[in-house]
Amino acid sequence: MDPAHPLLRSYGRIKSRAIKPRQAALMDTLLPRIALDPAAGPVDPRALKPDASEAWLEIGFGGGEHMAAQAARRPDVLVMGAEPFLNGAASALRHLDEAKVDNVRLFVGDARDLVQAMPEASLDRIFILFPDPWPKARHHKRRLVQADTAAMLASRLKPGGRLRFATDWADYADWALERLSRVLSWTAERADDWRVPPQDHITTRYEQKRLGDCAPVFLDFVKA
Ligand SMILES: C[S@@+](CC[C@H](N)C(=O)[O-])C[C@H]1O[C@@H](n2cnc3c(N)ncnc32)[C@H](O)[C@@H]1O
Repeated sequence: MDPAHPLLRSYGRIKSRAIKPRQAALMDTLLPRIALDPAAGPVDPRALKPDASEAWLEIGFGGGEHMAAQAARRPDVLVMGAEPFLNGAASALRHLDEAKVDNVRLFVGDARDLVQAMPEASLDRIFILFPDPWPKARHHKRRLVQADTAAMLASRLKPGGRLRFATDWADYADWALERLSRVLSWTAERADDWRVPPQDHITTRYEQKRLGDCAPVFLDFVKA
C-alpha cells in the first residue's frame, strides 16, 4: 500500500444495534485471548500456531459463520479473520464459543492493516466472501479489491496458496477478476467452476440475502 495515500474506508458502519449481553461478555473474556494486534508489530502466522498445517485468512467475515464453520472442520489449520464491524465481531465470538474451536485469531479492524503486518509468503488461503459491492461508479475506489490490495494479498500467499473471491454483483465479479488475474492464476476451466459453489464452501449470511444483481459467482485463484 502506498503510505502517501491513506486508506479509503471499504466498509460501512462499524456498529449498529446494541451488542447483546452474552456477546459483550465474550468481547471482554474471549476476544483478548484471541485478538491480533498489527499495530504492535509483525503478525507471523507461524509464530501464532507453530503446529498448524496451514494458515488461512478471512477478510470481512461479517457474522463469522463461515469462519467458525471452516475452523471447526479443519482444527489443524490456523484461521485468522479480520472485520471492523463490531456487531459482526461480537457475533463471530458467539459462533467460536459455541463451536468450541481454539484455532481462530481475530483482528477487529481493517484487514489491510493486518495483511500489511504479515510476512510475505505466509498464508495458504485467503477468503473474500461477498465484500461490500460499492455499486455506484463514484464509490468503486472504496472496493476492497484494488490493484494495490490485490498485489499485497498475492505477496502474502505462499507459492501454491489460494484465494477465493465471491460476489453476487456482476460488475464486481468482472472488476475483481481483472485485478486479481494480474497477480494470481484463475483456476476455472468451465462455467460451473464459477457458477456452482465450490465443494468446501459454506453459505454465508450475505450470500443468503441475495442482495446483488446476479447469482453468486465464485472465483478461485492460485499463486504460481
Ligand atoms: C457485505 S458484508 C459480507 C460479510 C460476510 N463475508 C458474508 O458473506 O456474510 C462485507 C463485510 O466486509 C467488511 N469489510 C469491509 N471492508 C473491510 C476491510 N477493509 N477489512 C475487513 N473487513 C472489511 C464489512 O464490515 C462487512 O462486514
